[in-house]
Amino acid sequence: MNMRVNIPVELDRLAVRNDRIPRPVVGEPAAGTASPHESATLHVSGEAVYTDDIPELRNTAYAALGLSDKAHARIKGMDLDAVRKAPGVIAVLTAKDIPGVNDCGPVIADDPILADGLVQYVGQPMFIVVARSVAEARRAARLGKVEYEPLPFLLTPEQAKAAHAGTTDELRLIQGDVQQALAGAPVRLRGTFSCGGQEQFYLEGQIAYAIPREKDGMLVQCSTQHPTEMQHAVSHALGWQRHQVEVECRRLGGGFGGKESQSAIFACLASVCAWRLHRPVKLRADRDDDMMITGKRHGFYYEYDVGFDNEGRILGVKLDMTLHSGFSADLSEAVASRALAHFDNAYYIPAADIHTMCGKVNTQSATAFRGFGAPQGALITEVLIDRVARQLGKDPLDVRRINLYGTDTRNVTPYGEVVEGNLLEPIMTELEASSDYRARRKAVQDFNAHSAILKKGLAMTPVKFGISFNVPAFNQAGALVHIYRDGSVLVNHGGIEMGQGLNTKVAQIVANTLGLDLECVRLTATDTYKVINTSATAASTGSDLNGKAAEDAALTLRTRLAEFAARKYGGRPDDVVFAWRQVSVNGRTLPFAQLVEEAYWDRVQLWSDGFYKTPDISWDKATSHGHPFYYYAFGWAVSEVAVDTLTGEWRLLRADILHDVGASINPAIDIGQIEGGYIQGAGWLTSEELVWREDGRLMTHAPSTYKIPAISDCPRDFRVQLFKTRNHQDSVHHSKAVGEPPLVHGISVFNAINDAVAAVGDGRQSPDLLAPATPEAILNAVEALRQRSAA
Ligand code: MTE
Ligand code: HPA
Ligand code: MOS
Repeated sequence: MNMRVNIPVELDRLAVRNDRIPRPVVGEPAAGTASPHESATLHVSGEAVYTDDIPELRNTAYAALGLSDKAHARIKGMDLDAVRKAPGVIAVLTAKDIPGVNDCGPVIADDPILADGLVQYVGQPMFIVVARSVAEARRAARLGKVEYEPLPFLLTPEQAKAAHAGTTDELRLIQGDVQQALAGAPVRLRGTFSCGGQEQFYLEGQIAYAIPREKDGMLVQCSTQHPTEMQHAVSHALGWQRHQVEVECRRLGGGFGGKESQSAIFACLASVCAWRLHRPVKLRADRDDDMMITGKRHGFYYEYDVGFDNEGRILGVKLDMTLHSGFSADLSEAVASRALAHFDNAYYIPAADIHTMCGKVNTQSATAFRGFGAPQGALITEVLIDRVARQLGKDPLDVRRINLYGTDTRNVTPYGEVVEGNLLEPIMTELEASSDYRARRKAVQDFNAHSAILKKGLAMTPVKFGISFNVPAFNQAGALVHIYRDGSVLVNHGGIEMGQGLNTKVAQIVANTLGLDLECVRLTATDTYKVINTSATAASTGSDLNGKAAEDAALTLRTRLAEFAARKYGGRPDDVVFAWRQVSVNGRTLPFAQLVEEAYWDRVQLWSDGFYKTPDISWDKATSHGHPFYYYAFGWAVSEVAVDTLTGEWRLLRADILHDVGASINPAIDIGQIEGGYIQGAGWLTSEELVWREDGRLMTHAPSTYKIPAISDCPRDFRVQLFKTRNHQDSVHHSKAVGEPPLVHGISVFNAINDAVAAVGDGRQSPDLLAPATPEAILNAVEALRQRSAA
């Protein structure tokens, strides 16, 4: 393989002087280089090693799980004789075989590893079978006979709300006098709305491979976004200290939030079995089991009361959001908190009273999913703005424009953070022109006037996404950078590569700092024995945090090398230049590798740690106020659809997205993230439907019944551009996080479908379309609107 590697990052910064003071960039912000993903060739050739590809040790055994058939029941008896006697079975373990604590909840201890006397959803693991082969383990796992005493159960957030059943604390955000704002409002929208959840559908399923080590140690190879949390959960389950457990992960075949906390049950169970049996044990859920066991995005049920003036300006919002939390808390409170801090999306809201409740229902425990509550928070406001625009006979974009956050006034969020570096207006203006929004609005209206069955729809929606974990302490990261004597560099950091290009960006940053290119820099697997006490790779902060930590380590090394060079060759350390794999010192230029070798003989330490913590963030949970986000990422999207009003089928005709990633470290990767996020958001709001039967069984647990977008669902005409800017904050290379914010652009697809359906009536009435807008739901909305219009 002979891949050309581009010179990384911001060409004008390639010649890096050795001063730690950031240099101002003059004029146009320099773009980074679109280097290919560091594993791109490995991904397509099949050489990339995922957890299940790691060569297995002799004596490895394979596990499978026995799952609950009941949504809520007492376990009166488990007859596992047939399981034990099945061919190939080595052992069958239940809750009582867990030596430490039978819990793997990330925040609250309400997540049993194996059900102990009580099951709380269909699919909950009750026992684990270890066998000689995967097939034998799976076959045996179905032979358990369980006697249940059924208990009453709830399945929807509405039911949970009515029953006051919550998994965790309720949150409240009060700003201004909302009663007064609503009482005087000329236009008022009151009602309910809901959106469904979403399966993460990572291509690589959940998996853990546990290998016992000497002196009560365990190595866990695990597909997880959070190795440190897995280390914690495994040590807890085994009753061990954390230093006994090493968790390693080279890469994920996708996580999308689904492996932030919920990889724990797999890590714990593989480890408990490996410890009991003194042999390596692998637990890999097949797709159906994975979907039956693990949690998804939170569905939301909303009750709203919103007041507007006659121009469509928002005066006050009273909003009650009930989350489909599932049977346990998991990360639900943090998700609710992010929803609370994103219902404003891009708009100034003078008065608000927002309440969240995490509804306890007897299903999988809902968990992180790209956006983490922010898309659900933004959705309701974007839907209501369209409705009020229709009611007032205005173009929704005009109503959005007058509501946007300002730069000097009307720039404080309901939770008290000032929207600094606001790009909503300039991005809107540029995209409105480049997408031809006005002309296409007219064309859509003309089309609809002459088309009885096919109706087109157009929508342009914004995103403002707060960057930082909303738990301030999580905003820290570490890295290790090693320079070997030949000048090659090895980097380890606490982040997880899940396809998003984190390792590519970190390699670019380190290469750039040392004046090297990507061929000189290699990233290792993430490992809890190297950089420790890490946060999840989540909240889109992966490259912000780990990139800064790696840059910090690389800067320390550059400084040491510069000081050595000046000592040896004269001149000032600050004048030493690292560029093009060479070092220039006092009029002389020598290869980087030569300087490194010389530094070694002078006993210069050639490895360093690095650390970063995000400055200036705070959050007061009691009042839901503070400065939770270091900065915001902004963007706008325009979606155009055509809906067949006889079948409910629809097509995405064209998408234009203009998105702010600050000064991009890698435009190719960032554009990929924007495209992927948008399509994933569109999937959430259209084809991806989770259906639980009346007995609580999830019926959509395989690709045959759960439809994620395919390549054929992408718009033929797909125009994604990066907005030319740089982060006003001192983020890594003045870039911005990109992982989650673009998912919110999917809302423009939902609104475009609504726009098309509204064309069935007089255009003033809004369809009663809930999310996801499946063809069935679209058809029902068309019918309902036709009847309303006829009446
Ligand atoms: N992109 C790919 N290809 N695969 C993923 O699993 N996860 C998303 C996003 N983009 C994901 C992805 C989610 S949920 C997050 S929080 C971020 O990537 C995490 O990575 P980052 O912080 O390095 O952007
Ligand atoms: N995103 C993802 N995971 C989290 C967050 C967040 O904002 N806060 C706590 N865990
Ligand atoms: Mo992403 S939902 O924060 O893993």
